[in-house]
Amino acid sequence: MPVQIVRNDITKMKCDAIVNAANPTLLGGGGVDGAIHEAAGKGLLEECRTLGGCKTGEAKLTGAYDLPCKYVIHTVGPVWRGGQNNEKELLKSCYINSLTTALEHGCETVAFPLISSGVYGYPKEQALRVAVDSITEFLTKHDMLVYIVVFDRSSFRISEKLFTAISSFIDDKYVDTNFKFRFSGRGEIGESAVLGETQILYPAAANLVQLRRPAKPTKTRSLEEALKQTDESFSEMLMRKIDEKGMTDAQCYKKANIDRKLFSKIRGDRLYKPSKQTAIAFAIALELPLEEAKDMLMKAGFALSHSSRFDIIIEYFITNGNYNTFEINEALFAFDQPLLGA
Ligand code: APR
Repeated sequence: MPVQIVRNDITKMKCDAIVNAANPTLLGGGGVDGAIHEAAGKGLLEECRTLGGCKTGEAKLTGAYDLPCKYVIHTVGPVWRGGQNNEKELLKSCYINSLTTALEHGCETVAFPLISSGVYGYPKEQALRVAVDSITEFLTKHDMLVYIVVFDRSSFRISEKLFTAISSFIDDKYVDTNFKFRFSGRGEIGESAVLGETQILYPAAANLVQLRRPAKPTKTRSLEEALKQTDESFSEMLMRKIDEKGMTDAQCYKKANIDRKLFSKIRGDRLYKPSKQTAIAFAIALELPLEEAKDMLMKAGFALSHSSRFDIIIEYFITNGNYNTFEINEALFAFDQPLLGA
């Protein structure tokens, strides 16, 4: 996954270069600038003194000293003044110039904070979109692994309405592995409920427990249809769906945020078994309806499990026809789940 959003402290990232959201003096400050200088030690400041500052949108490279990476790339983001002062273009050039500098120094992995989204006041969601769009654009021409390091919860904010909707979807679907019952609290006379083959009778006095009845079986495919599909491998189904959608291979794997090498492996080996993350990423990129997404996962040896909140959130978005990876990640982040592409 060429662009990965991770929740971490950037001073802990063991990649070739980390990017610092600095100010034009390059002489340190608060926020991520302060954290990087503190972790790197005084050698960093001494080298920064020799650079003669940095203009907004530009980038300059130094050593990393006590940090667990090779380089620090210092860039200066725009101060947010309402969005009508070329802030977006300047912020984009921070990412492009930092990545260009990293490329010139042979870096293969780079980690960014959300530049300008702290002290400089750039609205976090917009700052994240500019980051993702700028990095993705750069990676259409260069092979590199780029991390966007999200440090605090306020970087991802989903609406209360969406949060509530997903919470109740999870409530409805989530089956705890040790199969807890849900109390409906209605206190009516007990009733029987069917769980698979066994009938369970409740004691009349107890609160009525509403057992999660198994969903009604979906329309089963005809036998020969099912058999026809069984021998199609994950790789074959992926190629078939790319053709059916009228996409090119590159459009599909870039939208799925999968690197070219992995895609070539899948394409070249009909029996290749990808990770669950990769299979889900392709199902989302192809915007498959739920049944087809389940088919594709099954061909990779996986299922959307109702004892995984991550899977239930993915199912929520597919059921609602929302394939926007950014919005899916916002929801996953809000529910403390690993992110798509992480
Ligand atoms: N790791 C990753 N991200 C971090 C860390 C950290 N250790 N510390 C802070 N951040 C995040 C913040 O949560 C914010 O989302 O970095 C993002 C950028 O915030 P700032 O550090 O405030 O940077 P910026 O908004 O670009 O303002 C730059 O602040 O620190 C001063 O000297 C700096 O004057 C400059 C200004």
